[in-house]
Amino acid sequence: MPRSQRRARYLDALANSGEKNKAASLVFGVPHAARNADSEYRYRPHSDLHYLTGWEDPEVAALFLPDSDHPFVLFVQPKDRERETWTGRREGVEGARERFGADLAFPYSELAMRLPLLVAGYSTLHYAYGEQPDHDRLVFGAVNNARASLRNGLCLPWKIEHSRVLLGELRLHKDDAELALLRRAAEITAEAHIAAMRTGVPGAFEYEVEAAIDHTFRRRGGTGAGYTTIVGGGANACILHYIQNRDKLAPGSLCLVDAGAEVDYYTADVTRTWPVSGRFTTSQRDVYNLVLEAQHAAIACATAGRPYRDMHDAAVRVLTEGMVELGLLDGDVDELIVEERYRKYYMHGTGHWLGLDVHDPGAYHVGLYSRPLAPGQVLTVEPGLYIPPDDQDAPEALRGIGVRIEDDLLITAGSPEVLTAACPKTIAEVEAACAR
Ligand code: GLY
Ligand code: MN
Ligand code: MN
Repeated sequence: MPRSQRRARYLDALANSGEKNKAASLVFGVPHAARNADSEYRYRPHSDLHYLTGWEDPEVAALFLPDSDHPFVLFVQPKDRERETWTGRREGVEGARERFGADLAFPYSELAMRLPLLVAGYSTLHYAYGEQPDHDRLVFGAVNNARASLRNGLCLPWKIEHSRVLLGELRLHKDDAELALLRRAAEITAEAHIAAMRTGVPGAFEYEVEAAIDHTFRRRGGTGAGYTTIVGGGANACILHYIQNRDKLAPGSLCLVDAGAEVDYYTADVTRTWPVSGRFTTSQRDVYNLVLEAQHAAIACATAGRPYRDMHDAAVRVLTEGMVELGLLDGDVDELIVEERYRKYYMHGTGHWLGLDVHDPGAYHVGLYSRPLAPGQVLTVEPGLYIPPDDQDAPEALRGIGVRIEDDLLITAGSPEVLTAACPKTIAEVEAACAR
């Protein structure tokens, strides 16, 4: 879907947001952080702004004014020959109008001054408050100062809504252009995981595995990793957000890799766990197959109309039954589930929406109820089992084993499409990919 159509849908959603009067929306970019001294992080646009505008320069805000004769206004960095020599070409105000479809465009430095008059007459402003103190100061300051100084009866928005509510809904249902990018991200990610399996031999360092992944991401045209890559050898797999990636891979251990390529700002999110020496031991195989069975059970629930929550419940049941069989838990499965005793070894959710952000926005509930799945949604399904190395209650052979299996699904009218199906997953496929 072209961005002009996305903007039209957003303007429509704002116009029909149930307000008596109208709602406007202000969407900022993210501040461009310096790393230190004269060195900068590579700039990544804010996902909401990218979704609606495609604008890739920093210092930007987009204003959406439904039912106005200038519904799309951009505030951008003006062209500046000297700055462009240092930090690169800018589209400028002209580019905003001519190439990005803005009805009006102004330098970003004029935002505070122009905002009050532009939003006058709207009762509500949709805006991502609480994320960037500088933006909060600018918006609240501009509106409040104008309210205090205007004596001509102009009505400024009294109500602020978080823009995540409406934009989250739009971003949740992926259009064809987005799906093409997610498919490409999935394809590159599968290739990177295969490269990881080839690289992670006994004695290799976790960072060498990460390097093989990064190499594939960039060589295949991705923008890089969509989130910080996790390479956890042995018991490091039991640290959910382990990103140090600096230990040596031990023979006979497993390695858990959670890595996703970002392509034009859309990311995949995949986890595979594989044997460093090329073959699973019996205990590793038991845990792996249990997690795989839990994933199959969850995927079987990923059909349109079923509540989102069913996937997690299905995974939890399979995992809890397996924990009893493996000697990790003792007792009645229903009671262990009600009392959430499984959380000792399975302490995270079974998935999340996926898109421009690895944890993409979109509500998981409608009121008190888990939201029914619908075609066009993309989500991860990622059960796992993590047995701490010092867990005296666990059978000794299982201690220090951590396994997660994560794939990306597209909900369709029929069975879900596994976007990451090219990534080896069964024991036989993983062992074949680990043959060096
Ligand atoms: N890689 C982050 C997650 O799996 O949620
Ligand atoms: Mn995930
Ligand atoms: Mn992940």
